[in-house]
Amino acid sequence: MQRKELVDRLDEMERRARLGGGEARAERQHAAGKRTARERIDDLLDTGTFLEIGKFVTDGDIVRDDSVIPGDGVVTGQGRIDGRLVYVFAQDFTVFGGSLSAAHARKICKVMDLALRNGAPIFGLNDSGGARIQEGVASLGGYADIFLRNTLASGVIPQISAILGPCAGGAVYSPAITDFIAMVEGTSYMFVTGPDVIKTVTHEEVTKEDLGGAATHNAKSGVAHFAVPDEAAMTALLRELLSFLPQNNMEEAPRRETEDPVDRSCDELVDLVPTNPNKPYDINEVIRTIADDGHFLEVHAQYAKNIVVGFCRMGGRSVGVVANQPQHLAGCLDVESSLKAARFVRFCDAFNIPLLTLVDVPGFLPGTAQEYGGIIKHGAKLLYAYAEATVPKVTLITRKAYGGAYDVMSSKHIRADYNFAYPTAEIAVMGPDGAVNIIYRRELAEAEDPVAKKAELVADYRASHANPYRAAALGYIDEVLRPEDTRKRLIQAFDSLQDKRDTNPPKKHGNLPL
Ligand code: HXC
Repeated sequence: MQRKELVDRLDEMERRARLGGGEARAERQHAAGKRTARERIDDLLDTGTFLEIGKFVTDGDIVRDDSVIPGDGVVTGQGRIDGRLVYVFAQDFTVFGGSLSAAHARKICKVMDLALRNGAPIFGLNDSGGARIQEGVASLGGYADIFLRNTLASGVIPQISAILGPCAGGAVYSPAITDFIAMVEGTSYMFVTGPDVIKTVTHEEVTKEDLGGAATHNAKSGVAHFAVPDEAAMTALLRELLSFLPQNNMEEAPRRETEDPVDRSCDELVDLVPTNPNKPYDINEVIRTIADDGHFLEVHAQYAKNIVVGFCRMGGRSVGVVANQPQHLAGCLDVESSLKAARFVRFCDAFNIPLLTLVDVPGFLPGTAQEYGGIIKHGAKLLYAYAEATVPKVTLITRKAYGGAYDVMSSKHIRADYNFAYPTAEIAVMGPDGAVNIIYRRELAEAEDPVAKKAELVADYRASHANPYRAAALGYIDEVLRPEDTRKRLIQAFDSLQDKRDTNPPKKHGNLPL
């Protein structure tokens, strides 16, 4: 063969691979407000950095005729985000609805193996009708091969899933094992069994959107961590999220220089945290006030709003923030908030991201719903997560820290490195009202004016117990801080912990109370 013919053949093969399922299907994709797999990869990566792997993979036959599409419904490879190496796979809905064949699965496994071996994050851009029905069990095997790799890579490299279309059947379990799931509103959905099956089995009628759309999984089930309005916002989110994360569990997140002075006085905080213990305030405002450039990337923003988790930078360093939110359920801990925070704490610990905990918690939410829902084991997960975490841990009690919740929220006793409190902090077994009712029951019953007596006893209790000074006297609080000094002190603390080394006893793995 002449050189020209050889090159022509390659050109033709590449043209067919790029075409995927054809122009008509690509147009349908665009009409639905979705990008094609290759467009998504180009959007995500730094321009010109994509190196494709496996462009000509098919079911094993050499490309026979036009019915065989080189690449088999998934585009895989490596590239750069802000100059950092990442691996990526993007399912191509124009080829058999992005469904997963054995060859498709092998391609994904190959980039997962490369990502793990080279210590680089992996992004999965999911848009698939699930198992390729024509392939039967070979497709199921392909899924299991991916699940295994997701599990082995967990805690070694960051794994991030974008849901950009359907994600049905067992296909949801790969994203579910990854660290973060982001969904596009209106065009993406996830469910184990779809509306038709549900109708047949349980006679329930539900739309795809209500069953497994972005709103459902962000606000109700907590399966997804982010919801974005469109694919452009998805790209921006994925790139930003990565900026807070290290390449792998042996490295630290990149530092980003800031013009924001590390010793900036936070005068706004003086009035932001009310002295009235029953007055709500927005903990997000506190976080934004102390963070570099007022920037905070909230994770799981719509789920369990009584706790806030997310990433910010302090003095250029990536920090994971966990904070009770007094604006919702008074910031109490319950089943959902415990799960949300525990998962986040474990992520940060796995990836060397220091933890800042802001505490304003009246305790665990009482009630049968919580007890029957297993608050004991779910609350224990958060306790366990904090206790086992060996990353730098800095805690600031802004107001309430009562009962078991005091212990759980990164207290000194479970290896926090620095524990600060504001003068407004109240640290005790329980709040003044409940405490007075119990310890002064007889006095209150016998009092001539029980209301006045109770007010007096509450005031006494608050002065003697509900303050930070007992905890400071015992060394459980290292310093009672003036709010305006918060940023400066926290950054000093994190700076000093830069080379912290702490370990847990050798073991195969712990037995997290699942
Ligand atoms: C093969 C599939 C396919 C599949 C879709 N297609 N799903 N081909 N296997 N699983 C093909 C269609 O034949 C069609 O081909 C093209 O993809 C687009 O599909 P449409 O139905 O036209 O698109 P749309 O109306 O947008 O609907 C998308 C959809 C629907 C909701 C995903 O196709 C669907 O319900 N598919 C089946 C989903 C499913 O039940 N999958 C198996 C789940 S079980 P043409 O040639 O017309 O373009 C599972 C087990 C995994 O995944 C277990 C792992 C442990």
